[in-house]
Amino acid sequence: MKKRFLSTLAFTATAALALAACSSGSDGGTDAGTDGGSDGGSSGDVITVGFAQTGSESGWRSANTESMKTAFSAENGFDLVFNAADNDPAAQIQAVRSFINQGVDAIVIAPIVEDGWDDVLQEAKDAGIPVILEDRTVTASDDLYASWVGLDFELEGQKAGEWAAAEFTEPTNMVVLEGTTGSAPANDRATGFDNAIAGSSITKLDSQTGDFTRDGGKTVMEGFLQKYGVDEIDLVYAHNDDMALGAIEAIEAAGAEPGVDIKIVSIDAVRDGMQALADGKINYIVECNPLLGEKAAELVKAVLAGDDVDKRTIVEDQAFDQAAAEAALPDRKY
Ligand code: AHR
Repeated sequence: MKKRFLSTLAFTATAALALAACSSGSDGGTDAGTDGGSDGGSSGDVITVGFAQTGSESGWRSANTESMKTAFSAENGFDLVFNAADNDPAAQIQAVRSFINQGVDAIVIAPIVEDGWDDVLQEAKDAGIPVILEDRTVTASDDLYASWVGLDFELEGQKAGEWAAAEFTEPTNMVVLEGTTGSAPANDRATGFDNAIAGSSITKLDSQTGDFTRDGGKTVMEGFLQKYGVDEIDLVYAHNDDMALGAIEAIEAAGAEPGVDIKIVSIDAVRDGMQALADGKINYIVECNPLLGEKAAELVKAVLAGDDVDKRTIVEDQAFDQAAAEAALPDRKY
């Protein structure tokens, strides 16, 4: 049914590209779709969507991928061509180029980093293939994509910072575990947090990227503990739960008690993070909702049908202290 959704001009361009891709046999490293055998083109009533995921760096990402695969299911009328780029921005752009060459009906991207998207987004536009961004944002002109659904990362950082500023009224040394360098959540969560603690008694001792991974958080925290010593660090601000969970391992290995000797504030509210909060090892978590699939699928259908859609859709987040985590855990979906 893709032909029904595309303008004649766009379809002609798309079909030409699809043919070119078939004849060259290129799939650009893109995995098969959820039907296990997609060639990226589609027939009948099915909408073929190429989804360029960041990778599988965190519990949040697993929940997001599952949400997307459920929403873009064959049952819902989609043929999903899925690619996870293992946190490599160049590989992710290559995956999007492959989707363009395959002549998919629409492309959804969770951009690893904010910069560097102008050219490939222009190529998608020239091919008549609408792009919907989910989760993270880009710095490219918003003329180059149809819509974005995601979270207010700066507000998440601000909420975490407001908690820290209220919690620590005596001089406090903080270390920061940053997300992937150049990513929207790492940039915006730093800005929101720093603004919120400005003028407070908190001093930032150090800040390094742990790439949103548990191993990364653990390794960076081990380095901080070696450099400054357990007694010099009062607070960890982790840009996501996975890095906080890695930091907990490092703090325990150093003989200290996470959540007591060194307090921790993080972002995501995935099940493992919420359990650590309920156990008193993390002290506060700001949510980042990964369940964006349904809205993304709705946007794809609306855009292909030629409907007007909002350029930005922000999904609301909550925040949790220990009691709230205990109450929320039994019904937590991710
Ligand atoms: O873009 C959302 C962030 O990406 C999540 O906070 C983090 O866990 C993930 O890797």
